[in-house]
Amino acid sequence: MTDNGNKQAFERHKKLERNVSLLAVATFVTVAIGGVVEIAPLFWIDNTIEKVEGVRPYTPLELAGRDIYIREGCYVCHSQMIRPFRDEVERYGHYSLAAESMYDHPFQWGSKRTGPDLARVGGRYSDAWHVDHLKDPQSVVPESVMPQYGFLAETPLKVADPSANLTALSRVGVPYSDDDIAKAPADLVAQADPDVDAGDLEKRYPKAQVRDFDGDPNTVTEMDALVAYLQMLGTLVDVNDVAAQEELATEKGR
Ligand code: HEC
Repeated sequence: MTDNGNKQAFERHKKLERNVSLLAVATFVTVAIGGVVEIAPLFWIDNTIEKVEGVRPYTPLELAGRDIYIREGCYVCHSQMIRPFRDEVERYGHYSLAAESMYDHPFQWGSKRTGPDLARVGGRYSDAWHVDHLKDPQSVVPESVMPQYGFLAETPLKVADPSANLTALSRVGVPYSDDDIAKAPADLVAQADPDVDAGDLEKRYPKAQVRDFDGDPNTVTEMDALVAYLQMLGTLVDVNDVAAQEELATEKGR
């Protein structure tokens, strides 16, 4: 651009900068265009979340554990979303995928980490470790500031109406079948009671872990539910598979 052209451009910009109304209108138009470009496509695509193999709705027992997690405010200190940064991925594992929390109502991403992220804690420790840790965190991690939750092991699990919980979630789009809803009260017990045949539950909920979680086979307690929930976090999706697919996609894109 010539010196003259530069000058003209500055003059025009001056007009815009010195006139508040004009600046406001121009700002609005600019932001509106950006907004339309970002938001409008969402109305024409079927789903904003990419489907990922393995993601399934929670079993009634996991759901009860999740409700206890929310009731006790575990989310105040723990997040459940691994961000795609190297330090996080090295510490916690593959970054979280949107699909992994697609059946979470409300989601548990969290906004504060006093304790570590729990999105992939499932299978990292034994059930007994979780029970000891929840009863008395300082017995396993002496410097821990986590509160003690021993009462969970003494409180029998009471869910007023497991079927109603599933019905409510199905209304907001979680794909529970009529069969799942009808069998919810039985499923709730079957997953934690070693004496009950859980074959049917395992068919409807792939990768469901069935066992006595709290070390007390006589009663299904709140501890059973919470540990069942913690032990399934991040275990549904085979992340190695996902990573391999991503690599393939970038290879193809090249
Ligand atoms: C006051 C904050 C606080 C609250 C509330 C809290 N935690 Fe923690 N949690 C921590 C801290 C700090 C650690 C790390 C030290 C330790 O392992 O105890 C931790 C560790 C953990 C771990 C081990 C994670 C790992 O990868 O090593 C689990 C599992 C856990 N908490 C579950 C829970 C659950 C479930 C609840 C609710 C019943 C809860 N926490 C409530 C602070 C908290």
